[in-house]
Amino acid sequence: MKDLLKLKSSLLEEIENILNAQVKIEAHASAVYLAMSAWCDDQGLDNASKFFSNQSDEERAHMLKIFNYISARGGKPISPEVTNIPQDFESFRGVFEQALEQEMFVTEQINEIADRCAKAKDYVTFNFLQWFLAEQVEEEYVVRRILELFDVIGEEGTGRWEIDRHLVKVAFDGE
Ligand code: FEO
Repeated sequence: MKDLLKLKSSLLEEIENILNAQVKIEAHASAVYLAMSAWCDDQGLDNASKFFSNQSDEERAHMLKIFNYISARGGKPISPEVTNIPQDFESFRGVFEQALEQEMFVTEQINEIADRCAKAKDYVTFNFLQWFLAEQVEEEYVVRRILELFDVIGEEGTGRWEIDRHLVKVAFDGE
């Protein structure tokens, strides 16, 4: 019975493939954030470490959301191979700049998938993606706010620890 239902997959192959590619991107983002969390922890930047650890969990949740969606539509989700995770980072600010680049890349990808769904007239997946687009706005916003702390406080002297202290308000507000 199950196999018979699978034959009735309502996902186009093209859409299934790009969703699986996104599963991999989210898994990669989760692993990179975990590495960032460990690096910050090693530097004694506890709040930044917690922030990236939370981000890592969120990315895994995003991955699962897409993974389960593919399955629910009768497609075949692929558990991704995740490689090339950087373990070292040049600077505290650099970690957040890289985080912002990563988020901007994800936004671009989700936009692209939404565009492909619209062209393929897959409005069910298009609708599913709206949550991710809204989430990206929020994620980019928070990292940009944190980067502003670097501009305002500066990293000299005890600046790094001050930034880490103030980061709580920006990153965990509403938690
Ligand atoms: Fe799941 Fe922050 O992208």
